[in-house]
Formats: sequence, C-alpha cells, structure tokens
Amino acid sequence: MPNVGIVGLGSFVPEDILTNADLEKMVDTTDEWITTRTGILERRRVKSDVPVSELCYQAGLKALADAQVQPHEVQLVIVASVTPDYAFPATACLVAERLGIRQAAAFDLEAGCSGFVYGIATASQFIATGMYQTALVIGGETLSKITNWNDRATCVLFGDGAGAAVLQPVAEGYGFLGIELGADGSGGDVLIQPAGGSQYPADAQTVRDNLHTIRMAGREVFRFAVRVIEGAVCRVLEKSGLHKEDIELFIFHQANRRIIETAAKRLELTPEKLFVNLQRYGNTSAASIPLALDEAVQAGCIRDGDLLILAGFGAGLTWGAIVVKWGGREVDNN
Ligand code: ACO
Repeated sequence: MPNVGIVGLGSFVPEDILTNADLEKMVDTTDEWITTRTGILERRRVKSDVPVSELCYQAGLKALADAQVQPHEVQLVIVASVTPDYAFPATACLVAERLGIRQAAAFDLEAGCSGFVYGIATASQFIATGMYQTALVIGGETLSKITNWNDRATCVLFGDGAGAAVLQPVAEGYGFLGIELGADGSGGDVLIQPAGGSQYPADAQTVRDNLHTIRMAGREVFRFAVRVIEGAVCRVLEKSGLHKEDIELFIFHQANRRIIETAAKRLELTPEKLFVNLQRYGNTSAASIPLALDEAVQAGCIRDGDLLILAGFGAGLTWGAIVVKWGGREVDNN
C-alpha cells in the first residue's frame, strides 16, 4: 500500500476581527480574564450573509494551487464542520461544485473539533487502498453563527475560518506514519448544540430558549482535553514506533492556551515544540489544526523530513492524533 501524505495546504479567515476589547462592550468580561484563562486576544467573524462553504472554497482554492493540482484531478472531497451550510445537501458537494470539481465523491464529516484529523484519516484510507489518487480535506467553521452572544462563558472562545489539505501518495517513509482515533459518547452532553436536529427540531420555543447555540461545560471539557491529548499522543507514537523526542513539532487543536500548555507539561514537551496561533483566531473547531499547520509551514517552522503530530479533541466527545513525516512528494502533476 502506498504511503499517503499532504502535498498542498491552504487556509482562509474572514477579514473582520473581534478583539477582547470589543467583547468587553458586549458581555460582562475583561481582556484580562479572557487572556489569562484562554490566551485568546482576538478572533475572526464572518458577515451574517457568508456561509461556511465560502470559507472552505477559499481555503480549498489555495490548497489546490499550492499542490499544483487541477480540479478535475480531485476524486474525493471531505468537509469537516459542525456548522455546515445546511443539514443537507452536504457542504462538501457545494464546495466541490464551486471549485469546479465534478464527478468526485463528496461528503461531510462531523467529529467536532477532531473533524480535520478524522477527515485526514478517512481520506488517507481511500488513497492507501488505491481507490483514489487525490483527495481534498477541508476543516471549516462559522462558529459565530451558533454562538450565544449573551453567554460570556462561551462567546469569548470561538472564531471562524477554514483550512484545507490536498492528499496524494508520497514516497516511502513519508506521510502519515500512524493514526489514532477515538470517541466517548458518554460525554456527548458536555459540548452540544441541542436543537436543530431530530431530537429537538427547530421551532419557535427552541429558538426562544437559545437551544441552537453552543452549550459547554467548560471545566469538564478542559479535563477531558488534557487527558485525551496525552493519551492519543502516547498511543500514536507507540503505533508509529517513535518516541516524543523524535517529533519536531506538535500541533494540537487550538482551543485554549492553558489546555495546550497543561497537556504539553504532562508530556514533558518544551514550548518550542508547540505551534500555537489561537491568540489570533480563538477556537475555530475543525479549522484550527489546518489553519495552524498552514501558518507553521508558511512561517518556515516545518521542513521536509520533519516529524509532526497533529492532535485534535472535541464534541462527541472525540479525539484523534496523526504522526506525519513532512514532504516526500513524488507525483508531478504538470
Ligand atoms: N469573563 C469573565 N468571567 C467569566 C467569563 C468571562 N468570559 N466566563 C466565565 N466567567 C466566570 C464564571 O461565571 C465563573 O464565575 P463564578 O466563579 O462567579 O461562578 C468564573 O468565571 C469561573 O468560571 P469557570 O467556568 O470555572 O472558569 P474556568 O477557569 O474553568 O475557565 C474556560 C473557563 C476558559 C471555558 C475553561 O473551562 C476552558 O478552557 N474549558 C475548555 C473549553 C474549551 O476549550 N472548549 C472547547 C474545546 S472542544 C471544542 O473545541 C469544540
């Protein structure tokens, strides 16, 4: 079976910036509280008429250009999101159409903030078996649309954005060297958008009760996140036959600086091994890892041959970690 890896990346965030000072005017909070508890300084927010497919399209366009892949070469499109344009059709179908990708398989995947890692894991199986050669995986969110802007405990945390990766076969020894995915549905109510599905279909009462917005038990999520990052990283290292000292850079889901630092402490990782950009974007759920990965590559923090770990955690509750040996592209599409 061929090795599979990332051969192109792209990301996109909306222009409008919401700072902690802006939030101070909206709810009873302070820049000091938000900064010390989360590390977030600002986040991006889409205009009310912009759907998530637009962010995914922009990120996908950049990823295809970066990979030098033409739309007709893409055989699979996966969009990971908890804020799709519609319950159906799938956002992946809408994005594929806008990108000019026709005849490809396209579907959405919902694994909360672990969505991008789940998407990469899923798409890579299709390529490893030889069924497809080229896949586009996008994590995109417009969390601002499901945020309760009167709830200070959640509205300070989230942001909008999208990140995309093109996957293809890569040289032996490169690409995804180990994958660990998991879920624990007993924690489903810890992080939830209660209404709008078949349990509580949208009606006037659910809207009045604000049940279409994010509900979160912050402390439980914090404890879960720290525990599963540590566990998932240890298991994926074991599966890959590697040690944490072999890894050049760890990119964890960008939810909260304290979660990342606490998990890093437990794993005995030094700060320079962590890539963190949540101070500028907040928690962008399924978009956070590809946004961070793209920025890390652009900033020259990742070189060919480097070993990385991408690790996500989120609603479900879900988690996922992947070891990647960066580079190894051998297919010439031109
Ligand atoms: N400004 C000021 N005070 C606040 C704010 C705010 N924005 N939000 C909560 N508070 C208050 C609370 O009301 C509470 O006050 P009280 O003691 O008078 O009742 C106090 O601050 C402490 O509240 P806690 O919720 O206990 O604060 P904590 O230290 O746990 O920090 C936080 C809250 C930042 C949400 C933390 O629990 C956390 O980071 N959890 C993980 C959240 C997360 O990352 N979620 C997403 C991960 S999964 C995914 O990405 C979808």
